[in-house]
Amino acid sequence: MTAATPYQHILVETEGPVAIVRLNRPQALNALSNPLLREVAAALEGFDADDAIRAIVLTGNERAFAAGADIKEMAGVGAIEMLRRGRAEVWERLRKLRTPLIAAVNGYCLGGGNELAMVCDMIIAGEGARFGQPEINIGIIPGAGGTQRLTHALGKARAMELILTGRPFSAGEAFAAGLVTRVVPDEACLDEARVLAREIAAKPPLAVQLAKDAILKSFDLPIEQGLDYERRNFCLLFASEDMREGMAAFIEKRTPRFVGK
Ligand code: CAA
Repeated sequence: MTAATPYQHILVETEGPVAIVRLNRPQALNALSNPLLREVAAALEGFDADDAIRAIVLTGNERAFAAGADIKEMAGVGAIEMLRRGRAEVWERLRKLRTPLIAAVNGYCLGGGNELAMVCDMIIAGEGARFGQPEINIGIIPGAGGTQRLTHALGKARAMELILTGRPFSAGEAFAAGLVTRVVPDEACLDEARVLAREIAAKPPLAVQLAKDAILKSFDLPIEQGLDYERRNFCLLFASEDMREGMAAFIEKRTPRFVGK
């Protein structure tokens, strides 16, 4: 089912409990202009607030997931204006989404594009995808989490090399380093992401959200506080109808019917 869209730079559709958001600035390899990024945040927040949507796929086209922030939009900008543009707040909105977010990446996934993929919870990559943080080549550094998230994913030594040289890297290298969940043939990428989204969408949604929340907290908290945080989320789920249903269904040897409460 395709919904009417109020957006200019993205396409959105829903397939049952799965929403698909497609970056749609093909003439600029989906470069993340301010209007595009704001539309992405608005669409994702809209789906995040919709209880009927249980997983979101974010994708681009065959040639590019996104080739980075829009260099033409940034080229004449000063430091204060850059601060005032408030892009950091937009990225924060993405970080706070509760619904699982899967990036389906084909083609170029560079700079801010790679940062957008990394803000997602999982990345399915087509085998021809080209990842990279090439900002160094234009006199800047990653500005939307690249130095942090790539380092968490790959470790210091590899992140240093990739960010200080700007060298692009393949889907295979990204998989071997733990950045992506799975590498598939290019033409299967979106479908694989859809299948994964549907699988997650069938799980009890409160448990999914609290699991995502606890996993992300592992990046912020020391282990002891992280374990406390996990235990609280775990105990909280004993207040849910879905926990009663899941355990009763197991004992009664039947398929559970989750309601998201
Ligand atoms: N910003 C603006 N426009 C871009 C763009 C970008 N990041 N990437 C590509 N485009 C535009 C090109 O200017 C070109 O437009 P015109 O036809 O109007 O000239 C169009 O998209 C097609 O691109 P190319 O002709 O360059 O295509 P190619 O196949 O020869 O090369 C590429 C592809 C290697 C990805 C090359 O486009 C490229 O190097 N792009 C820039 C990649 C980059 O440096 N990204 C980091 C940006 S900074 C950043 O992201 C900061 C941050 O962390 C927040």
